[in-house]
This record gives sequence, C-alpha cells and structure tokens, in this order.
Amino acid sequence: MNHSRNILILAALALATVAVPATAADTGTVRVRVDSAATGPKIDRHIFGQFAEHLGRGIYEGVWVGPDSKIPNTRGIRNDVVGALRALKVPNVRWPGGCFADEYHWRNGIGPAAQRPATLNPNWGGVIEPNTFGTHEFFDFLQQVGAEAYLSINVGSGTPAEAADWLEYLTTPQPTALAKQRAANGHEKPFGVTFLGLGNENWGCGGSMTPDFYVSQLKIYARYARNFNTAHPMKRIAVGPDTADTGYTEAVMNAWKNKTWAWDIEGISLHYYTVGKWPPAYKAQGFGEDEYAALLGHTLRMEELLRTHTAIMDKYDPEKKIALSVDEWGAWLAPTPGTDPGFLEQQNSQRDALIAALNLDMFIRKADRVRIANIAQMVNVLQAMIFTRADKMVLTPTYHVFRMYVPFQDATFIPLSVEAPPYEHGTVKLPGVDAIAARDAKGVVHVALTNLHPTRSARVELEVPGVRPGRVTGETLAAPRIDSVNTFDAPNVVVPRPATGKVSGGKAILTLAPASVSVMKLE
Ligand code: AHR
Repeated sequence: MNHSRNILILAALALATVAVPATAADTGTVRVRVDSAATGPKIDRHIFGQFAEHLGRGIYEGVWVGPDSKIPNTRGIRNDVVGALRALKVPNVRWPGGCFADEYHWRNGIGPAAQRPATLNPNWGGVIEPNTFGTHEFFDFLQQVGAEAYLSINVGSGTPAEAADWLEYLTTPQPTALAKQRAANGHEKPFGVTFLGLGNENWGCGGSMTPDFYVSQLKIYARYARNFNTAHPMKRIAVGPDTADTGYTEAVMNAWKNKTWAWDIEGISLHYYTVGKWPPAYKAQGFGEDEYAALLGHTLRMEELLRTHTAIMDKYDPEKKIALSVDEWGAWLAPTPGTDPGFLEQQNSQRDALIAALNLDMFIRKADRVRIANIAQMVNVLQAMIFTRADKMVLTPTYHVFRMYVPFQDATFIPLSVEAPPYEHGTVKLPGVDAIAARDAKGVVHVALTNLHPTRSARVELEVPGVRPGRVTGETLAAPRIDSVNTFDAPNVVVPRPATGKVSGGKAILTLAPASVSVMKLE
C-alpha cells in the first residue's frame, strides 16, 4: 500500500468539492442540454488574443526589462511573463496600441537602442517613451510566446507612405533598401503579420473622423499598406464601432460591398468595455453585490452589440467573409489608489473572472462572425492577465479563465440550451447560469459553465444526447468572496481547483459554486 499516494488522492477529492461552501443554498436545478447532433462553426483561436499597448507599465516593466536587468530575461524580455503566457497558448498580440498606435512612428523603434529617440506618450500620463521596445523586440516577444502579430498602423497622425514603408520593411523577401535595413537590424527573413489594424478608434483618439472621412482614409491605407510575404497571409482590419454607434459599421460595410479592385479588407473591429459610467468609477475591490450585479449586467450588453453590428454586417456580407474583431474588451474600473491614473492599473477579482468567461461565451456563440478578439490588456493594465512588481509576478483570476478555456481554441462549437432560474438583484435580472460547449479535434466534448449567483450554488444536470460519459472532470475557479483577488503576498487566493461531476443515468450532475467558472470534459 502506498500511503502517501492515498493521502494525495484524498486531498485531490477534497479539492474537488471545496469550491462549494457547505452553507451555500442552491439556486434550484439547472438543466443544460448539449445538442451534440448539431455542428456549429469553428471557434477561432484568435478570439483569445491579447492586447499590449505602450501604456503605463504594460510594456516597460510588464514585458520589457532590458537585457542588463537582474530580472531573468531573454534579450530583455521577462522570462516569467513569457512562461505564463505560453501556458495560455496566446494566439495573437495586438500592438503598439490603442490610442498610442495613432501617434506611433515605427522608425523611432528600430536600430541600435542607444540611437533611438526619446519621444512622448501624450495619451497615457505624458511620460517619456524610450522606444527601446520596438518592432524587432515585439516580434522577438511573439516568437518567445508562440503568438502571431496583430499590428495597428498609424492612420491618425501618420501617412500612407510611412505605413507602406513599415509593411515593406517587415514583409518583403526582396533585397530592397528597407529589407537590407531590416537585415542589418538583425532579421534577414521577412516577418509574418497576421492581422493589420487600419487605425484605431479613428472616431475618437485616432483623429475624430466622421465615418465617411474614415472610409476615404481606409481605402488609401488598405491599398498601400501591402503585405509582401506571400508565405504568411495578412488580414486587414478596419476600424468599426464604438459600442452601440452603428455609423462606422454601416459606412465601412457599405464601402466594402461596393469596393473596387483597388482595395479590400478582411475584418472590422468593435470596441466595448465593461465600464458602466465615465470616467471609470466602479471599484476593483471592496465592492458589494450592487456593483457585482450591475457590472455583470453591463458585460452582458455585449450580446446586444454583437447582434446589432452583425445584423448590419449580414446585410452587406451574407457570406460572412468579413470577420468581426472585438479587439478591445474587458472591465475598465477605477484606478488602483496611489497609482498614476494615466496608467490604468486596476486590481482583478473573481468578478473579473466571470466578466472574462461571459464575454468569451458571447464571442463563442457568435463564432461564425467573431473570429478575432483581444482583451484589454495583457500585463499591468486594465483587466490584465498578469501583474508584475520588480522581479515578482502574480496571475490574476482572469488569467486562470483564459488558461481553463484553452480547450476551446479551434474547437467546434456545439449549441446548447440552459434552463436556469435567473439571478435577480434589485432591478438587475440576469441568466443564473451561462454555458457553452465545443468538441475538440479528438472528439472530446468540453463544457464551460458560469454560475452568476453570488451566494447560491447551482445543481446542474448536464445532458449530451448520444454521449454517455464515463467520467466528467475538469476545473473550477471559485473564491471566498466575489471581490477576492490575488496579490504578491497572497497569490493563490483565486486559483482553479480540480472538479468532478457524478455520472448517473447518462447525465452528468455537477454542483457549481456561487460566482464560479468551471470547465468540464466529458469522456
Ligand atoms: O485600452 C485603453 C484605450 O482604450 C485604448 O488605447 C483605446 O483604443 C481605448 O479607448
């Protein structure tokens, strides 16, 4: 008998049930029926993209510490952050902004570090931008993480020639002067650019352009910012709507429908933050159920936005050639007290974990059209995956949701129905349980379940006709409180725990802890 092994098994079983406090009352039975006979679209892995802007401590300190730093790094890039991101299988990273992109001049960020000019970052705290992290450092970071490039070009304050030159510098295999400069800077082979953002928020920080004015710019940039790397196709993403305003959606899609041979796009972006009010004032910690319910409600507004904008897209593009790229989303909360408000630093709680799961579920339900998405932002900024302080790193509850959802990357969506008592608080009425399902390349069915109720567990009967699971196992992310966070001193307050379901009569019976996210596998 191996006693230590038995002790480990007992400990693991205890973990499987720990997610549900013994005192939590039940919401009532929740019935989830996965329509396994129906086949949906592929869930594009690019909806799990990240966004890394030159903003606060997002790049400098968060990713880049420089090759001379005592913090372990590879060519200046933090090893701990790269390691954590590799576990997320990050498909793409959007860079260099955001609002920063429309003031970025790429030539400042190439060549010997000592010769790069110090410039300003007027959008974000007015700080000095040293330009030490530039094009080559970004692609080195991508290669270390195993991700692809989503570059945003400067339409607001740049020129078509500047953008065209950047693309030639990056992508041509021919020995042009720009390609020789690229080689002299350490990269002989062309880079691959997977997505190219044609501006950023040009209705706002990107130049306050009317839809028609933007469309005239779009045609120019979509023509001249060419990809010369035929081995690596590039998709061009036009700027689209801010939240509910349909002006850009209509103008861009109408222009695309009537386009000439001279230009094209492959996507249009949507930006929507869970912010509630402006300036952002919802507390990241120390909030109660009022704020919890309100922010989950603001999050679910994404569903209506996706419906509105995709209906317009369907009108002009019934074949769904153009992707909707939700390339900025997430919670935008009051800044952490004592930090520079221009740096957009905020704590990240169990509530943020639910906000992440609910958004991902909404994108997955619209997988036929939402094929790219980028949470704002990757490290130290807004709804971050990771916080760093000097040589320390902590993973947030949102990070854990992204890690748990890895099996959904490139899996096939399976429709399901949920019958659950709603979660009601004051005037807010939300679905009690949110769920999505998918089949991976090996045929295994994965189900993600989010219990929105903050104090009641949910007893779920999960039925997958045609599949009689022998085992239902997975992970649950639950927390002592809805505002529980991970800190440098206590990094494991909110971490996923193993979970199992009971199998009975061909159904899986699961108990979801209050305010929890679970991802289960049926075998
Ligand atoms: O993510 C922060 C900012 O929010 C981005 O720079 C901008 O595009 C958006 O308004």
